[in-house]
Amino acid sequence: MDGVSGPASKKRLAVLISGRGSNLQSIIDACETPDFPAEIAVVISNIPGAKGLERAERAGITALTVSHKDHANRENFEDALLKALEPYNVDLICLAGFMRLLTAHFLEQWQGKIINIHPSLLPAYKGVDTHERALAAGESEAGCTVHFVTEEMDSGKIILQKAVPILPGDTPKTLAERVLEQEHKAYPEAIRILFSA
Ligand code: GRF
Repeated sequence: MDGVSGPASKKRLAVLISGRGSNLQSIIDACETPDFPAEIAVVISNIPGAKGLERAERAGITALTVSHKDHANRENFEDALLKALEPYNVDLICLAGFMRLLTAHFLEQWQGKIINIHPSLLPAYKGVDTHERALAAGESEAGCTVHFVTEEMDSGKIILQKAVPILPGDTPKTLAERVLEQEHKAYPEAIRILFSA
């Protein structure tokens, strides 16, 4: 026992992004709550100039870019990511709109310590264009899922889901907005669940 308590005992997160970073923002905001069990140690984007990087910088969080385009193949890119993560002593990786598939090469080192948010009620609508497909299928409900990441896309153990109704006249855009509101609650809640288990 190290006898340490309070902020010093917070778990350390890496958040991986590719774009806008609104889910990252919800985690940044949650981390500012005194009783939140985690803090963000580093944000990494695979896209240079991603808007989420600015959000991190504004919050005083180290923000790095590891561009997949600078690497000849997936394995080299994943090695660069692993190397970038190394100094930050991270407990959990949160994928938040990170648009690269990670292979076993990366995942074997992070088994059970990497999670993702997906804008559907998994196992329904894995992959892209979830809202378009849910509307086309005439669903009455949509939502989001926070889950562990495994080699198989959008298929790891589910931590938390939040549902929303699909309303008459919904478009992919209106539905995405309604789901996104829930995503912003779900991600911090899932992190809380994991660290209070
Ligand atoms: C979210 O809808 C998330 O579920 C999906 O990609 C989107 C990312 O949005 N994986 P943001 O970058 O967090 O704003």
